[in-house]
Amino acid sequence: MLRPQAKAIDLNGKPDLKDPDLYLHEQHHEAFRRLRAEEPVYWNPEADGPGFWAVTRYDDIEAVSKNPKLFSSAKHNGGHRIFNENEIGGNDTDASMISMDPPAHAGYRRMVTPGFVPKRISNMEERIRARVTRLLDAMPKTGEAEFISAVAAALPIEVLAELFGVPESDGPKLFEWSNATVGEDDPELRVSDEYMQKCIMEMAGYAAGLWQQRLETPGDDLISMLAHSKIGGEAMNFPTYIGTFILLVVAGNETTRNSISGGLLALSENPGERQKLLDDPSLIPSAVQEIVRWVSPVLHMRRTATEDTELRGQKIRKGDKVVMWYASGNRDEAQWADPYRFDVARYAAPGVPAQIGFGVGQHFCLGSRLAELQLTILFEELLRRFPDINVSGPIRRLRSNFIYGIKEMPVSYTPEG
Ligand code: HEM
Repeated sequence: MLRPQAKAIDLNGKPDLKDPDLYLHEQHHEAFRRLRAEEPVYWNPEADGPGFWAVTRYDDIEAVSKNPKLFSSAKHNGGHRIFNENEIGGNDTDASMISMDPPAHAGYRRMVTPGFVPKRISNMEERIRARVTRLLDAMPKTGEAEFISAVAAALPIEVLAELFGVPESDGPKLFEWSNATVGEDDPELRVSDEYMQKCIMEMAGYAAGLWQQRLETPGDDLISMLAHSKIGGEAMNFPTYIGTFILLVVAGNETTRNSISGGLLALSENPGERQKLLDDPSLIPSAVQEIVRWVSPVLHMRRTATEDTELRGQKIRKGDKVVMWYASGNRDEAQWADPYRFDVARYAAPGVPAQIGFGVGQHFCLGSRLAELQLTILFEELLRRFPDINVSGPIRRLRSNFIYGIKEMPVSYTPEG
């Protein structure tokens, strides 16, 4: 079965956080602001499910995410999305690490961790800069471009191709499959159920081909790591490999792309902040943290209560779905005095609370350093070469309650001479 589409429900003026239109129309921040103040642990009924608890405060998100014994990610309990992953097919043997709990989770995470250690990531710096340079060299000399296809989507896909050890010419396929995987609520991306089915089959066939090839001829890439690693003496089973492949395609791609585009949008809307980066590019790493806080490209992750418990005085029953809204925690007034201000220098000061856009606890984003490196290099080069680049027309957003994305974003800039 395919990932189900979200059905909206009329809640008499209360927000339905599952409604993808809330994010499409950028109304979620107001809804979250009200909930943090009035009902920080909020029961959100569902038209097509039992309902879920929406956790909207930073501290509560941290508490839930750091307690996997009580708040499970495991596929057999429902997994990490609002819909139940165990109802759309398969079982724990085909779950990827993001839908596992300790201790199993740690073993699978260890398999791919060598691909993301700091030394390996910093070794990629030169190649990432060369890719960025090439993409920016190719920006039209007219001074007008569509930024998502020209830069924001292209860079993470090329980097992913390097991680997998596949040719860059496979990038468009990875891009299409990744869009289809997270696009269940966007009619442009989920053209039909048949199309979605076709994408899943193609992606699984492609992943299977790579597995076979790397079993025979291992390289220094993530696929070879997966094909050859052992857990308790056993190789990773094939369905888990397919799940992990799909996780990496989506996680390495949608998130970084939408941080790049959301970051440029924020800089266009806040020219004073852009000027600060132009005056002092050493602020860019701080700006990158602020961009991930501001954009929160992953809107939420879900857990399931394994016991009756309480959160901020709210009784939660065993089996209840608990959804952590990073987009809300990242604007929590209890953490930052001015969470609605986009401030590129925020993270240059000591003692500022970490943003939680990469999650918290055991599932903390494995690719965070790689994403930060791509964002840092991209904004360094982009602002150096096109200091006046600006969003020049209406943007088109992804319709999704999971990924806060931009599909199209026109920009204008003074072309290089
Ligand atoms: C700005 C970019 C990114 C953001 C905002 C982001 C966000 C997240 C979040 C919120 C989680 C936590 C999941 C949970 O707690 O259930 C996560 C996990 C993960 N991310 Fe990222 N991510 C980004 C980039 C990347 C990249 C570039 C990769 C790899 C190429 C990646 C790979 C992963 C993986 C494998 C996990 C699962 C870790 C686990 O379950 O232990 N991410 N990411």
